[in-house]
Amino acid sequence: MAAQDRLARLVQGYRERLELTKAQLAQRAGVSPSFITYIERGQRRPSQAMLTRLMQALDLTASEKRALLQAAGHQPTAGLSPRLGDITEQLAELPQSERDELIEEFSRMLGRWRELRRKRVRRVVIPVAGWQPRLLSPEQLGKMLRPALQETALAGLSEVVLVLAPGKAVPTLKLPRGLKVRTVVQEPQLGLGHAILITQGVVGDEPFAVILPDDILLGEGRQCLQQMLALYEHYRCSVVAVTGVEGAADFKNYGIAQLGQPLQEKVYLVAGLHEKPTKGRRSGLTIVGRYVLVPQIFEALQATPPDKNNELQLTDALNLLLRRQRISAFVYTEKLFRVTPIKILLEQLIDALDESRPEQLEQAMQITKEALQALMNL
Ligand code: G1P
Repeated sequence: MAAQDRLARLVQGYRERLELTKAQLAQRAGVSPSFITYIERGQRRPSQAMLTRLMQALDLTASEKRALLQAAGHQPTAGLSPRLGDITEQLAELPQSERDELIEEFSRMLGRWRELRRKRVRRVVIPVAGWQPRLLSPEQLGKMLRPALQETALAGLSEVVLVLAPGKAVPTLKLPRGLKVRTVVQEPQLGLGHAILITQGVVGDEPFAVILPDDILLGEGRQCLQQMLALYEHYRCSVVAVTGVEGAADFKNYGIAQLGQPLQEKVYLVAGLHEKPTKGRRSGLTIVGRYVLVPQIFEALQATPPDKNNELQLTDALNLLLRRQRISAFVYTEKLFRVTPIKILLEQLIDALDESRPEQLEQAMQITKEALQALMNL
């Protein structure tokens, strides 16, 4: 009975501190007024779930919540997660110095996590060091970057980090107002993952966006990044854009995402990612070149082994990150033009010439026609 009296006194004290009547507190907590009366008379021991509602309604600090849980006869860690209970028990069994070290480490992580949660996305990294942009003059590259810059401005970002090939002049850019540009040179050229990794010095410990400008988003699609940023703010995890594929053949030209639990319309948790799978993995959606990434991606990139072409893949690093934290996928359904067909076209042309196969040449020409048509409609 003594514990229930203590609980009664605590609840009443916290309630009066907020200058709430019993009825007002009941309304805030979504419980009946008589329930509050019973608790304050020491006649009722609330369940863990009910107590959690009360704690929220009373705006309690962490130590006040602990006191309340204890007074109600609940484990302070119960209800949070059984895993946390396990960890607490294991910690208690350790020698003091090791325990202190771990707790210190954990509070550092918690501090970094808290700080990160407060940070908003300000920058977008746009890699243009690949072989396709390298073929373009600074003017042409400037033109190609226009839609990406519009998307950036629409998303309210203030800084663009361009990753350029060595010896390449900075593209001629028409910058939307308020947008700053910084450049980083990628040397040697070890793939998309590497291009992102070398921006770490500029990006720092902040979440950031990535636009691959050879995926050109059209019409309403220009709002894709903006929508992804809103998802980041909501779920506080990396976001990858994905889209449906027409043919399985596409799989080998893109990263593929397998989707897990739905979070809301067009938004899922990512279950797995695979960069350009050649066999197996015939399901999933292809990754579109739009990402919102947490800074832990840099650690994941550092820990990712290069692929068979000695390139560091962003998709592989994301897969590694997925073991530690969740990643969400935003299903892009608007118009999309992918410059990738031009890459496929070149490969097919070269193969066709090599093997003298006219039907392959024809197919390549069909792809060129479609690509040109799409470009003209931009
Ligand atoms: C990159 C990514 C791939 C993604 C694609 C989108 O590939 O690695 O996962 O599907 O962009 O355009 P890349 O075009 O660099 O070969």
